[in-house]
Amino acid sequence: MLAIESSCDETACAIVDGFEVRASVVASQIEVHARFGGIVPELASRHHLTAIVPVIEEAMERAGVASFAELDALAVTDGPGLVGALLVGVQAARGIAAATELPLLGIHHMEGHIFSALLGDHERAARPFEPHLALLVSGGHSELVDVRGLGDYAILGATRDDAAGEAFDKVSKMLGLGYPGGPIIDRLAAEGDPAAIAFPRAMLSDSKNLEFSFSGLKTAVLVHIEEHGQPASRGHLADICASFQAAVVDVLVTKARRARARVGRRRIHVVGGVSANRGLREAFAAAAVADGFELEIPPLRYCGDNAAMIAAAAAARIAAGARPRVDVAASVALDDPRLSLS
Ligand code: KG4
Ligand code: ZN
Repeated sequence: MLAIESSCDETACAIVDGFEVRASVVASQIEVHARFGGIVPELASRHHLTAIVPVIEEAMERAGVASFAELDALAVTDGPGLVGALLVGVQAARGIAAATELPLLGIHHMEGHIFSALLGDHERAARPFEPHLALLVSGGHSELVDVRGLGDYAILGATRDDAAGEAFDKVSKMLGLGYPGGPIIDRLAAEGDPAAIAFPRAMLSDSKNLEFSFSGLKTAVLVHIEEHGQPASRGHLADICASFQAAVVDVLVTKARRARARVGRRRIHVVGGVSANRGLREAFAAAAVADGFELEIPPLRYCGDNAAMIAAAAAARIAAGARPRVDVAASVALDDPRLSLS
């Protein structure tokens, strides 16, 4: 299977055999957008256009696939995402499909993230599907999803305002640290005291509420900077990062634990760009021991956007007999009926 992902700011192509990744190439546009402090959609589309063919060629070469004739199927992210960016990947995939007559499956970006937890873990991937809880945390999403089956997703809670990754990016910008903020704050947080500043944990007191809100936390960081000035020392900067990260992690872990208890699943998958966060990974590992649940977090290279996860979801859909179809949509929820297999 050859899969393409271009929904946001990474141009990616992967060649995957079942859950075995033969090649996963990701061309990041971070440098293009960094000086704007966020993604500029028009620039993203243009850079996808120039990157897409070399990225596909590189993936084929690394996988040792000499021609499209060696492939069985094609997959592409068809939403949600920036529409101009999505279209570049979709049109490339459609072109290959037209030339080869291979089946082409459109995959929901977040369904790809859900399946990313299985990549590189053959034992896990070989076991029969078991319903589980997924925490999806990326630059555009923060959701708790009950994964009842393939294409059968119940959204238990989502963010009312900013996504978790977006909060990392905005706080990083406030502190003048650069884009994307997640990895930078993650690194600095390791040097700081997470208890230095008591930042708010939104909506934690209501134990039934599985929604998230990160905009108040973002404002609290801004107020702290206004009151104390931009941190003059690396120590103070690290304390802000550690305290902010601890507040995000606390909310994500606490709500995921509650959600798992409510739906009665044995396993939690933590996926999406923010699942690379060290503080989050450690807190979930501790919670898994304390509560006795199984934890799946993808290897770091599959936390951020990549095409291998799109191939993994497509492989599962093909195995389940899904019809090949592509419906480009900038905005489509995981519980949209079009994802349903029935
Ligand atoms: O899944 P992803 O690559 O793209 C989207 O689908 O949005 O997620 C990107 C987000 C960004 O907001 C980035 O700052 C965040 O993931 N991120 C992190 C870390 N690495 C990436 N957030 C916290 N800690 C990290 N180590
Ligand atoms: Zn993503």
